[in-house]
Amino acid sequence: MRIAVFGAGYVGLVTGACLADLGHDVAVRDVVTEKIDALRQGEVPIHEEGLHELIERNRDRLTFTTEVDEAVRGAEVVYVAVGTPPTYSGDADLSAVWTVVDELPHVDHRIVIAMKSTVPVGTGRTVRHRLDDRGLANVGYVSNPEFTAEGTAVHDFMHPDRIVIGAFDEADGDVVGRLHDGIEAPVVRCDVSSAEMIKLAANAALVTRISFINEIANVCEATGADVVTVAEGIGLDRRIGPAFLRAGIGYGGSCFPKDSLALKQLAANSGYSFQLLNAVIEVNELQKRRVIGKLERRLGPLRGKRIALLGLAFKPGTDDMREAPSLVLAGRLLSEGAEVRAWDPVADGALLLHGVEVAGSALEALDGADAAVVVTEWPEVRDLDWAEAGSRMRHRLVVDGRNLLDGARLRALGFAYEGIGRPIE
Ligand SMILES: NC(=O)c1ccc[n+]([C@@H]2O[C@H](COP(=O)([O-])OP(=O)(O)OC[C@H]3O[C@@H](n4cnc5c(N)ncnc54)[C@H](O)[C@@H]3O)[C@@H](O)[C@H]2O)c1
Repeated sequence: MRIAVFGAGYVGLVTGACLADLGHDVAVRDVVTEKIDALRQGEVPIHEEGLHELIERNRDRLTFTTEVDEAVRGAEVVYVAVGTPPTYSGDADLSAVWTVVDELPHVDHRIVIAMKSTVPVGTGRTVRHRLDDRGLANVGYVSNPEFTAEGTAVHDFMHPDRIVIGAFDEADGDVVGRLHDGIEAPVVRCDVSSAEMIKLAANAALVTRISFINEIANVCEATGADVVTVAEGIGLDRRIGPAFLRAGIGYGGSCFPKDSLALKQLAANSGYSFQLLNAVIEVNELQKRRVIGKLERRLGPLRGKRIALLGLAFKPGTDDMREAPSLVLAGRLLSEGAEVRAWDPVADGALLLHGVEVAGSALEALDGADAAVVVTEWPEVRDLDWAEAGSRMRHRLVVDGRNLLDGARLRALGFAYEGIGRPIE
């Protein structure tokens, strides 16, 4: 089939490349000329495992354009993968989605809009009305939410846990279903609103687990239990399962914070106070800040202390720093008067962190530091030469915000080591 994908970001590029790999002809459209120029020259503007190779392999079936007409010409399906960031009120900003809908040209064959962007429940209905108002009754609408995780997105797209297709018209849903031929996964066919809610509810369930285990970790700290052992013990219960039970300094990224806020706001706008989700969000905000207390207990007031942040991306395997805990941590440390030096193997902190010195290597970040804080569980941080690191630091103190390192080994090297929810020596 011929497909248009609107948005050459984390989701749009992976969707476009994977659909091309399944044998479809794909035109990816973005409004940012530099992105499209780079893609045409074979450069991939984001860090995502396997994406570069996939785009290279499917060059013949992939085109990149800034032109709407060129993208939509001959397309049977138009994927929407534009950003839906939060507004000040917490609602999702749908302006980019409306631009796509309003710019869609009149065509004489049937096309289907497939929504990959995460949108509030009810968006599909509003888009349907808008299309009808524009006289575009030959344009179908399907909600086909995306569940891929950055860092493993290509693999996740090709091996999903499920494919969700919510349609107003069965035939439109069938078209989007056929696009996925070659992918083995259960398909959930449903109405548009339910598909929209499946995406928001899935992310809400995941953040609830994260805040749950983080609160268990905080109670472990207060009572002397070890959250890593506790998580293993509860994860073996088949009714609970082991995933998403890693305590740490909270979730971040471009999806979890925004989608949980959007669902909370969606509920509130409909007259319902989603109390559990309110608590989940608040727990996460507090969790990011707990590192400050740990540092103060060891170092006293942080004014003038040099703190090294190891990892800036919101998780390993990506260069994405949107809503990363590192940003909140850096901001809090700076406001306490600490000097902050940070390092990440791929994320470019210089773009986002005012007042933070960005180091060229982990060891450089640790030179003369009073403490190291593990912010992102990069293998490069785990495999660092910690003996060498210790010899460079002013104080051998590690606050491990991801329970990534072997505490016993670090203590043997003379470090004071503190994880999250683990017994403190
Ligand atoms: N990032 C993820 O892992 C992930 C996973 C699941 C769902 N989502 C959802 O997918 C959507 C996209 O997320 P993302 O991370 O890829 O965002 P992104 O910011 O990386 O990419 C969005 C792209 O859309 C482009 N754009 C804006 N207006 C446009 C227009 N009118 N036409 C064409 N392109 C336009 C932007 O320039 C940008 O390149 C969001 O709704 C997000 O919540 C993201």
